[in-house]
Amino acid sequence: MRKPVIAGNWKMYKLIAESAATALALKPLVSNANHCEVVVAPVFTAVKTVADRLEGSNVRVAGQDCSTETKHGAHTGEVAADMLRDAGATYVIVGHSERRQLYAETDTFVNRKALAALKAGLTVIMCVGETLEQREGGIAERVVRGQLEGGLRDLTASDLDRIIIAYEPVWAIGTGRTATPEQAQEMHAFVRRVFADRFSQAAAARLRILYGGSVKPDNIAGLMRQPDVDGALVGGASLDAESFAQIVNYERT
Ligand code: PGA
Repeated sequence: MRKPVIAGNWKMYKLIAESAATALALKPLVSNANHCEVVVAPVFTAVKTVADRLEGSNVRVAGQDCSTETKHGAHTGEVAADMLRDAGATYVIVGHSERRQLYAETDTFVNRKALAALKAGLTVIMCVGETLEQREGGIAERVVRGQLEGGLRDLTASDLDRIIIAYEPVWAIGTGRTATPEQAQEMHAFVRRVFADRFSQAAAARLRILYGGSVKPDNIAGLMRQPDVDGALVGGASLDAESFAQIVNYERT
């Protein structure tokens, strides 16, 4: 049995006070959610405060990115994975499509970030997904396979329980255009096959694969009914504690 993960990516929103208020509002709303892991990813400057506010609760904290570098040093603007851990995060998102598109992150970069995060003891949420052009050009699977093979390079069997894949079709992010449950299922099953080819059937059977892209309270249940959808990475709808809690509590709606 794979325990689902519902993660909220707050992107570059919320000052510290707003982040803390959202975290505090969320806590009681999801306190009975034993069916899944609940994660929120605030901006770097709010990670420590949010982690402190959520201490003792069932909500975990993620960084939205981390440095490729593990050794502390002269890397202006970077945050090392062990610094995130130090601030109270236990997860980190790497390879989000906004980082790939706006900051030219390559699979090699994403891979180095994942390795750095694993070394620091974090659980990695690695994002993959094709653009609309790539989907319409019939190369969605080829693109996702490349992202997975590049991103997962040099991982060992002992790392695999701390790897989560988030399939986020770029055309569905922030657009209100969700992939249908069938489209999500199709790609999730493909991701699991690639993982099995690269590692083992057993590791693939344990891999959690999250769907991301315009997940809302009214479409989460249909997505979660798919056999290979093991949770969600939620952007816009995670900013509000009530709507994120409705997504977390999809079982009861
Ligand atoms: P969205 O973002 O839910 O606002 O589409 C998802 C994401 O970027 O992780």
